[in-house]
Amino acid sequence: MTLKILLLGKNGQVGWELQRSLSVLGELVALDRHSPDLCGDLANLQGLARTVQAVRPDVIVNAAAHTAVDKAESEPELARTLNALAPGVLAQEAASLGALLVHYSTDYVFDGSGIRPWSEADTPAPLNVYGRTKLEGEQLIQADCPRHLIFRTSWVYGARGGNFARTMLRLAQERERLTVIADQIGAPTGADLLADVTAHAICGVLAQPQRAGLYHLAAGGATSWYEYAKYVLAQAESTQKAIKKIVTAVDPVPTSAFPTPARRPLNSRLDTAKLQAAFALTLPPWQQGVARMLNEIH
Ligand SMILES: NC(=O)c1ccc[n+]([C@@H]2O[C@H](COP(=O)([O-])OP(=O)(O)OC[C@H]3O[C@@H](n4cnc5c(N)ncnc54)[C@H](OP(=O)(O)O)[C@@H]3O)[C@@H](O)[C@H]2O)c1
Repeated sequence: MTLKILLLGKNGQVGWELQRSLSVLGELVALDRHSPDLCGDLANLQGLARTVQAVRPDVIVNAAAHTAVDKAESEPELARTLNALAPGVLAQEAASLGALLVHYSTDYVFDGSGIRPWSEADTPAPLNVYGRTKLEGEQLIQADCPRHLIFRTSWVYGARGGNFARTMLRLAQERERLTVIADQIGAPTGADLLADVTAHAICGVLAQPQRAGLYHLAAGGATSWYEYAKYVLAQAESTQKAIKKIVTAVDPVPTSAFPTPARRPLNSRLDTAKLQAAFALTLPPWQQGVARMLNEIH
């Protein structure tokens, strides 16, 4: 029997990579919010339910979300609809079909205190609207659809479109000094890694349903935005891919140097031991994926 997979948010960083990684598992119906025939708009809850009922997928993968963390502060209702109510609808529809629902959440469900990596057993305490709405989305899925995979991840980048590394490379060609936040710690995680692990985990859960659940998924190790920036610039130099750097200094600054509407957690470390054990995986160090992405974008 061919597996039927419904993918929402196909053009986001993770959604784009999922189009590649999921296509080998079966028949893929991939939508974004502008899809003409089937509704892929998370703001249209009835349309979304109708889409699931029409497609009748075995697996639903939701890569769409309200990801603009600062903007969410001024549009909390829209953020709640996309990040909580829409996943709730997907959960109800998935449950009534007996489908597996795959969804992504965030380290922003935690308050960022301490220095220990967060485990799945730790108590969430989000600092901002984005984190609160993402947490509610998790809870609605857990309540309505036991057959789920929720992956909490952090600091996602994709080779396509804008990303932190690209911004640093551009600024290094425009400015002599860069100031970069040094007190937020996390693991830059490639959208390609997330998509590959997702495909692997879907197969794992289809074979052994008891492996469904909530998992932390991020690349190995941890760094600050400041160290990440220095790594990107050093890599660009060592691979001798010509960038006309005029930057002479990169200075570390605290988060308070860049006030933003949304408060951000300082400690975004995620403990991924549960995922690695459940799915027999070794997550690569964050530098590996970033180096590969830099090769791709140069
Ligand atoms: N980015 C991160 O650092 C990060 C960190 C932790 C967790 N996550 C989670 O990982 C998942 C994937 O994130 P990402 O980095 O791939 O984000 P992304 O690149 O911002 O992609 C999000 C996608 O959602 C789509 N979307 C927005 N509003 C929509 C609507 N009303 N209906 C349908 N689609 C809509 C966007 O479409 P448009 O392009 O048309 O707006 C975009 O394609 C999300 O659940 C996010 O919360 C991300």
